[in-house]
Amino acid sequence: MDYIFPKNFLWGGAVAANQCEGAWNEDGKLDSIQDHMPFGIVKEPTENVPKENLKLKGIDFYHHYKEDIALFAQMGFKIFRFSIAWSRIFPRGDEEFPNEKGLSFYDQVIDECLKYNIEPMVTISHYETPFYLSKKYDGWKSHEMIEFYVRYAKVLLNRYKGKVRYWITFNEMNSLWNFPLMGAGIWTPSSQLSKQDLYQTAHHEFIASSKVVKLAHEIDPSNKVGCMILGLANYPRTANPDDVMAALNEDHRGLFFADVLMRGYYPSYALKEMKRYKIELKTSKEELETLKNTCDFLSFSYYMSKCIAKDASLYEEGKGNLTTGVKNPYLKESEWGWAIDPQGLRYLLNTYYERYQKPLFIVENGLGAKDVLMEESVNGWYVDDIYRINYLNDHLKEVWKAIEIDGVDCLGYTAWGCIDLVSASTAQMSKRYGFIYVDRNDDGSGTLKRYKKRSFFWYKDIISSNGKLLK
Ligand code: BG6
Repeated sequence: MDYIFPKNFLWGGAVAANQCEGAWNEDGKLDSIQDHMPFGIVKEPTENVPKENLKLKGIDFYHHYKEDIALFAQMGFKIFRFSIAWSRIFPRGDEEFPNEKGLSFYDQVIDECLKYNIEPMVTISHYETPFYLSKKYDGWKSHEMIEFYVRYAKVLLNRYKGKVRYWITFNEMNSLWNFPLMGAGIWTPSSQLSKQDLYQTAHHEFIASSKVVKLAHEIDPSNKVGCMILGLANYPRTANPDDVMAALNEDHRGLFFADVLMRGYYPSYALKEMKRYKIELKTSKEELETLKNTCDFLSFSYYMSKCIAKDASLYEEGKGNLTTGVKNPYLKESEWGWAIDPQGLRYLLNTYYERYQKPLFIVENGLGAKDVLMEESVNGWYVDDIYRINYLNDHLKEVWKAIEIDGVDCLGYTAWGCIDLVSASTAQMSKRYGFIYVDRNDDGSGTLKRYKKRSFFWYKDIISSNGKLLK
């Protein structure tokens, strides 16, 4: 079988500023919440910026971007998704005027991409709320964030007009439920937040996102703006209708964010829940009208599926990406316990496309694994990551089936952490996703030298054959 993808399919890779740039306080940048999370999500954040935080240094993309983008070009990338660090552009977040040095850094990154005909795709906010906004305003819990965010986005939309066409307003909005600090910059500990707080926070993000969609279209009608969710296939653990309904509820928790931003209004299940909990959103007619500026596409990350049971205590816990469920006995897991499920990606593509009938974009997918750097190269590669090749190969075949057999409109695919970077959840370097190995260890040591992995050559072949070489 030949797995040939549509002619204009956008193949590429993805990173986030806080996980790769380093240079956390250079050229006027101030700290973001990530600079206070030395252990990722596994422990509480710290009030001061701890020196041992790997995210402060990342892989020093800030000074290596030319070399790195050249490597992406060698693989034949058509698109490169990266985020802009808000705290480089508005260091505190609530200033009136942007930091020119921050903007000029991204001028260079974008121009470097365009030099190789790589389409830049910008995530406006990827888990990196400026710390000042988090501390002073409690992040997105505050209505004032809308104004700060729209001002920031407007600067980007004007500055990169004609150069950037693909925009994502927020990374994985649905992470708000479980990780309000990372997802929405809320400094108050999650144990002290009520359902009302969380719904109100989501509402502020919805309004901000919709305003930016409107603005983006006004500034340049060729702009395409997507919202993004953490994509999870939730399977009922058994055919017991109790488990099926529990899985449906879990779907609602995740899809709520896409439902509002893709359809332009609150879904009935959420309105009913708010009523049950006596939640009253502080909003206005005008704000609800703004929601009608719906997104052009839905983007999502996909790493794993999980099982849901009404009584989870009956089963072994399944670990996952910012979420938990119960283990699926039919699936193998990654070294970090994430269930490997290529068909889950096809399932999700179908689910989302049927629900919204708008283009989809897979903006993250990949395997976090411990790689071993070899001293001598074999055919130019220094890491034999056949396990990653297998993972990606199997997932991409399911993407092809979704497109060619099921008729899903999928614009492209950006493999996560196309160059090794610091893990979001654990702040480790040793959880690697890249086609390019970066010599940096968990203790911060290493030369930062870049080495090609076996998957580098594999992905290059897949892109140049437009999928034909998938096996
Ligand atoms: C996604 C995030 O949830 O998963 C990324 O958008 C993150 O920022 C990725 O890096 C993989 O997770 P982790 O914890 O392995 O880095």
